[in-house]
Amino acid sequence: MQKISLHEVFDQLWEFYATQNPQVPLIHNLLAEREELSNLVNDHIALRTFAETRVGLEVLAKNFTQLGFEEQASYELRDKNVFAKYYAHPSGQWPKVFISELQLDSLSQAAQALVEELINQIPEKVLKSRALCAMGRPWDVSHSTYQKLLQESEYAAWMAAHGFQMNHATLNVNAMSSFANLEALIHFLEEKGFAMNGQEQGQEIQKAFDPHGEYLLKQASTLAAEVPVQFTDGEHIIPGCYYEFIERFQGYEGFDPGNASKIMESTYVRSHGNH
Ligand code: NI
Repeated sequence: MQKISLHEVFDQLWEFYATQNPQVPLIHNLLAEREELSNLVNDHIALRTFAETRVGLEVLAKNFTQLGFEEQASYELRDKNVFAKYYAHPSGQWPKVFISELQLDSLSQAAQALVEELINQIPEKVLKSRALCAMGRPWDVSHSTYQKLLQESEYAAWMAAHGFQMNHATLNVNAMSSFANLEALIHFLEEKGFAMNGQEQGQEIQKAFDPHGEYLLKQASTLAAEVPVQFTDGEHIIPGCYYEFIERFQGYEGFDPGNASKIMESTYVRSHGNH
């Protein structure tokens, strides 16, 4: 089997993410005007998949564990029917990898059959690839299938349309020098015109605390910008990926299921009537 390095996996993931989602280079360039490039540290990347034997979380995780990553913790996002684990490299030189999977038995029989039809299209060679996680969408899908899945699960629909790619990357505010905290960074990005998840409700920042009520985590994310996606029955504009921002406290390296669930809503289809 062809060897692949962590550099190649992360480069492939990043290339896809940055070219498909124009807000990513825009935000990077804006921040690079204020920060040393070495201050723009990617805390973690997130991947999504279906909880199915051939493509489930553990299958994607192998792309990383075979290259030295180690499992750290698992989370249940019950309100989204999603299970997740995160992995880290002992060198500390790589972003953490957060992989989630949608429990298919949370979908109707009809929707489960649609998902199975997608997975059945994946060539054996691709299923066995050491970079399955960065393959993009290895199946054809119609817009009507996308819409049927959307009625049951935003996650399932996103996955059907986009396949295996980075759902988001995450800049760590702790590493930056020109923003005092996450609030300051989010304020800056909103002033530059980027729409944040939760902005309309004034709830951009997701927070997690330790048992003493002290901060462990603050997180925020852009709304996924809409991108053109090719379906078998034509091109449609739908939410793509988003950029996340995180502030960590007390050396906490983990995640929080409540935060993760809210952040996941960054890819929700918005009803703003422009398509
Ligand atoms: Ni994240």
